[in-house]
Amino acid sequence: MTDRGSPARPAAPPLVRLGAVESTQSVAFELAEQGAPDGTAVVADHQTRGRGRRGRLWRDEPGSSLLLSVVLKPRLPLARLPLLSFVGALATAEALHETAGLEAHLKWPNDVLTRGRKIAGVLLESRVGGLAGRAPVVVVGIGVNLGQTGFPPDLEGRATSVWLETGRLLDRDTLLDAVLAGLARWRRRLEDEGFGPLRERWLAQTGTIGHTVTVDGRTGVAVDLDADGALVVREGTNVRRIVAGDVRS
Ligand code: BTN
Repeated sequence: MTDRGSPARPAAPPLVRLGAVESTQSVAFELAEQGAPDGTAVVADHQTRGRGRRGRLWRDEPGSSLLLSVVLKPRLPLARLPLLSFVGALATAEALHETAGLEAHLKWPNDVLTRGRKIAGVLLESRVGGLAGRAPVVVVGIGVNLGQTGFPPDLEGRATSVWLETGRLLDRDTLLDAVLAGLARWRRRLEDEGFGPLRERWLAQTGTIGHTVTVDGRTGVAVDLDADGALVVREGTNVRRIVAGDVRS
């Protein structure tokens, strides 16, 4: 019998490192168009037009943040793709805990907070269609404030960084490795086991449920996270499902 040795491990997905770019999201979609494999990651030192949720800008000072976009070609039905934003938020919160010892809380839908201030944000964008039979491409974008020593007046008191929280400069690659490992792990669990385990872990780490929240001008008590990721809010005797919006608590 021929000894063929142990089976080859699948190659790690490519990691593309860039200096200044408009947005790592755009680069990731371009790479996906060119056939980049599932899991391809793009990191940059600076974005000139970083994208935030709901059409907002995501600003950074050069070298101060983890700016990451990951191409995903998930084994999920279209309706389940939005759940990948919970994967991004949870992977980031766990990575911050593991590498910086930070207690990070999740705010619906996918903000990562420390002591009530935003330390990281997640943006999920997808492109569906194109060639018949082609898998949808999702890019999960993650921005983590690492070295900021302060924030512009409009963010003061609402944003924070690892440096401000710990007084230490966290190595960007250490955090990157932990985030990528968490993304891969939680994404597989979502594909293999459904939303249940991810939902349980998200609920355990959220500061949203049980609190009075205001979403787009309407106030109620957040009571649950639905099986499709919607936030369930009780307003008096009415229960409302929120599928998109900004929560203030
Ligand atoms: C939010 O609004 O909270 C989401 C912010 C997401 C920012 C990240 S930074 C890396 C990636 N590239 C972008 O242009 N946006 C995401």
